[in-house]
Amino acid sequence: MIVFTEADPPQDGGYEHLDHISDMHRMAMEFARCGWEVVHIPKEYACADDLEAVFSGVTERAEPTRALWSGYVPSQAHYEAVYRHLQQKNIYLPNPPEAHQEIMELDRSLRCLGELTAESVVIERESATIKQAPTFEDVVARLGLPLFLKGAVFSQKDEGWGGCVATTLTELREKVERFPTRLSRGRVIARKLLPLKKNGETLGGFPIAREFRFFLWRGEILAYGFYWAFGDTAFITLSPEEEKQVLALVQEAARRFQAAYLKLDVGQTEDGAWWVIESGDPQFAGLSHIPMETLIERLTLSMREPPPVSIGFHHEKDGRT
Ligand SMILES: Nc1ncnc2c1ncn2[C@@H]1O[C@H](COP(=O)(O)OP(=O)(O)O)[C@@H](O)[C@H]1O
Ligand SMILES: [Mg+2]
Repeated sequence: MIVFTEADPPQDGGYEHLDHISDMHRMAMEFARCGWEVVHIPKEYACADDLEAVFSGVTERAEPTRALWSGYVPSQAHYEAVYRHLQQKNIYLPNPPEAHQEIMELDRSLRCLGELTAESVVIERESATIKQAPTFEDVVARLGLPLFLKGAVFSQKDEGWGGCVATTLTELREKVERFPTRLSRGRVIARKLLPLKKNGETLGGFPIAREFRFFLWRGEILAYGFYWAFGDTAFITLSPEEEKQVLALVQEAARRFQAAYLKLDVGQTEDGAWWVIESGDPQFAGLSHIPMETLIERLTLSMREPPPVSIGFHHEKDGRT
């Protein structure tokens, strides 16, 4: 199996001579330890539409070969181009382009998640393309204020809490209009504000909620961990009863997606209920407190089975609906 990593390539003598060893480097080393072939690839902006050159060292495989990508969130077009390029070489990333898009873009994943996540309204910014765009008044009438705002792929959490929340109708209009396309891909999603349990703030002043990140392979949980960098022990530890509830939610959510390899973030509200915060493609997700060795060892065992030859291939549903 092959892992394509966007971690900076090693200098003479390996990673230890680099100025900075990132999580992505540590993952590449762990993949290597588990027997994976590690191939360094450039970041998207450096690919210049020339995938032939990027993958020139990767030869066509005689047998269908599984692969993973470990990098930064690509544009949908880049993901698709890389997927198709590798497919021609008989090499298969776990999530075909449509399955990848369904878990990466919130307006799509909402259709699968339904009641498992905060009630939401999609606001398309190029609203000329849709027949009945909701007005900002409609959005507020339906979801109330304050509201949580997120682009199709990212929120503005790097701007702090104020970057994510609209408290008035005017603020909603302004924030939607100014939402960077890089984060929204043209769609901003207004979401009911969930009263998540909190435990202090990040250094950037963002509230630390009781959130956990899960990585799954075909509906099986590979590993999970607390989402934020720090939190009190009691806050970041699940009781056996809580763990049962969260696992049930995560498995129900996973059942609804096509993707073989899936990331889910879940959070707990003040009343003790659990909600899906977002889905994603683990190939482009940070590990948070997920134990890396466990994750990669279990992933290696799960993926070792060769991809089905009839892989033709829309998605690997594997009998699940
Ligand atoms: N509906 C919501 N209500 C309250 N807080 C939310 C809501 N959605 C997300 N958050 C908080 O904001 C953070 C960032 O939102 P998220 O949807 O995960 O965007 P990003 O893709 O930028 O991580 C979450 O980790 C959670 O703490
Ligand atoms: Mg998130």
